[in-house]
Amino acid sequence: MLTIATIAEMKDAARAEKSAGRTIGFVPTMGYLHEGHLSLVRASKAATDSTVVSIFVNPAQFGPQEDYARYPRDFERDSAFLIGEGADILFFPEAAEMYPPDFRTFVEVERLQDKLCGRTRPGHFRGVCTVVLKLFEIIRPEKAYFGQKDAQQALILKKMAADFNLDVELDVRPIVREPDGLAMSSRNQYLSPGDRRAAVVLNRSLEAAAAAIRGGERRPDVVIGLIRGLLGREPAARIEYVEIVEARLLEAAPDAGPGRLIALAVYFGNTRLIDNLIIPAEG
Ligand code: PAF
Repeated sequence: MLTIATIAEMKDAARAEKSAGRTIGFVPTMGYLHEGHLSLVRASKAATDSTVVSIFVNPAQFGPQEDYARYPRDFERDSAFLIGEGADILFFPEAAEMYPPDFRTFVEVERLQDKLCGRTRPGHFRGVCTVVLKLFEIIRPEKAYFGQKDAQQALILKKMAADFNLDVELDVRPIVREPDGLAMSSRNQYLSPGDRRAAVVLNRSLEAAAAAIRGGERRPDVVIGLIRGLLGREPAARIEYVEIVEARLLEAAPDAGPGRLIALAVYFGNTRLIDNLIIPAEG
């Protein structure tokens, strides 16, 4: 695996892949890799000739009170995982090169960026879109891989790619969960042992909602009430939001029918976790 730290070298390497007729699959990450990220690397390796993984803790997507400084970082560990998966290139740029002092251009996807997580994380998706567009421009991948756990991020990035006519196909892969159902996240490692045990309530409440919907329940307020009730029984959980939205503009859905997104954000101590479920088609 080639490790590259500068934009110029990454552009050269990407150009070399293309001149050799090799397609590029790209997995953008903020590091502290887990099985969810590695599933994206595997998907990229299966579908493209050369897999580039970026590790960049993007300051532009963190609010001033958020965890940028303490976000987990472990380059050696991540690098070993990526070598194990057979990634071809690890791009590990410096914040000072990605955002020089005179950096002024940001990307916003209007309306979508203000819903769900955007309500309490103003500027977050602007930072995500800006860095992802920069990375796309540097790496020029044919395919890029994202996790469904960040459902709103995936939707927003797809809209950005469509609106800017980007020549990259976004592949959004299923949520990877721990054996007890907790969605994998680099932030899970912040949880105290007690909060870690409590956090299984996220997936359990989504599963209970899915069961109610399978049983014929379609009223969004009833399904949301069920989820809130289950979360409310867990003293460690502090709900930020539970919503059922339609999947195009993320507006409140009139029913809990197939294709709707049930999304939630919940705190355990200072750790904010998200999870979601797309209501499957009937039968
Ligand atoms: O999902 C993430 O880890 C980040 O938001 C991303 C896409 C790597 C952009 O910094």
